Amino acid sequence: MSHRVLLTGGTGFVGGNVASVLAGRGADVLCAVRRDPGPDFPWAWRLTDLADPGDIAAALADHESTAVLHLAIDNDLQGLYRDRKAGFDAYVGMTRRLVDACNAAGARFGYLSTDWVFDGSGHNVDEDEPVNPLNLYGLYKALSEQVVIDRADHGFVARVGGVQGRHLTQPSAPRAQDCGFGYFVLSLVDSLSAGQQFSVWQDPAINNVASPVTAAEIGARLLLALDREADGILHVVGADAVTRLELAQAAAEVFDLDASLITTSPVPEGQMLPAPMPADTSLATPRTDEVLGVKPYGIRDQLRALRSEAETGLPQPLTPA
Ligand SMILES: NC(=O)c1ccc[n+]([C@@H]2O[C@H](COP(=O)([O-])OP(=O)(O)OC[C@H]3O[C@@H](n4cnc5c(N)ncnc54)[C@H](OP(=O)(O)O)[C@@H]3O)[C@@H](O)[C@H]2O)c1
Repeated sequence: MSHRVLLTGGTGFVGGNVASVLAGRGADVLCAVRRDPGPDFPWAWRLTDLADPGDIAAALADHESTAVLHLAIDNDLQGLYRDRKAGFDAYVGMTRRLVDACNAAGARFGYLSTDWVFDGSGHNVDEDEPVNPLNLYGLYKALSEQVVIDRADHGFVARVGGVQGRHLTQPSAPRAQDCGFGYFVLSLVDSLSAGQQFSVWQDPAINNVASPVTAAEIGARLLLALDREADGILHVVGADAVTRLELAQAAAEVFDLDASLITTSPVPEGQMLPAPMPADTSLATPRTDEVLGVKPYGIRDQLRALRSEAETGLPQPLTPA
C-alpha cells in the first residue's frame, strides 16, 4: 500500500532516519518544518506552523496525506521546567491539534513516544503496563499518548527507547553520552576508533537499562504499523534489555574495537539532568509482535546494522520491506 505521510520532526535525529526509510520504501513523504531546512535537505518539505490548526489542515489538504507521523519534539528538559505552559502546549497541545486535523481529514495518526513514560522500577514491561512518569518530559509524553488513544479515530502510539543511529541531516552534530541511551553506541565508537578511553557512566539515578533500537528500524516499523492499520500502544524497541556496560561491550565486539578502552566513571559534573530519571526502561513487545507480525531484533543484529550504517552512510533497517 502506498502511503502519503506528513512527517513532523523530519529535520531531527529520528525523523530524518524515518523520512529516509519511508521514502526509500515508496511512501510519499512531506516534512512539516518550522524553518527552511536548506538546499541539501533530501526530502520534500513545507513550512508549517504546528501551533496553527488552520495551517496543519492546509498541509494535510495540500499533500492529500493519508497519515501523519508526529516526531517533532521540544527536546529541552530544563526548558520544560522553566516554562511549563509552553512545554505542555509543545507536547500535548500540538499532539491534540494534529490528531484533530487527522480526524477531520480521515488520516491515520502515529505518535512517537518514549520508554521514559515509565518509572523505571520494572523490567521488560509490556504495552499494558500503566505509565508512571518521573519527570515533565515523561509526563507530557504520557499525556500526549492519552490524547492519541482517546481522541484519534485511527491512531497508534509507538514507544521507543535507547535509539541508536546517525543524524542524517546534521552529520557533524555533536554526539555524546548522556543520562539516557541516545547516541551512546556511536559516541563510544568515535572514542574507541580514535584509541581513546570511553567511560561508561555508572549511577543508580540515571537510565541504566534499556532495549536499544536503531532509528532506521523505527522507520521500518512505523511503515509496517501504517501498512497494518495498527492502533493502540506499540513498543518499537530491540529484543534485548541491556545495561550501559553490556551495550558498550557488545558494541566494541561488533565494531571490532578494543574493549579494554572501556572504563566506568560517575556522571561528570554538570551532566546530571535536573529531574528524576527512570532506571530500567526495558520494554517487552507481546502485543506489538502480534499487531506487526514480526519479532524485534536482538542487540547484536542491531549493532551489525549500525556498523554497516556507519560504513555506508545509509540507514539500514532490519525489518524487510
Ligand atoms: N532520541 C532518542 O533517543 C529518543 C528516545 C525516545 C523517544 N524519542 C522520541 O523520538 C522523537 C524524535 O526525537 P529526536 O531525538 O529525533 O529529536 P530531535 O533530534 O531533537 O529533533 C526534534 C525535531 O522536532 C522539531 N521541532 C521541535 N519543535 C518544533 C515545533 N515547535 N514545530 C515544528 N517542529 C519542531 C525539530 O525541528 P528543528 O530542526 O527546526 O529544531 C526537529 O526536527 C521524539 O518524539 C522523542 O520523544 C527519542
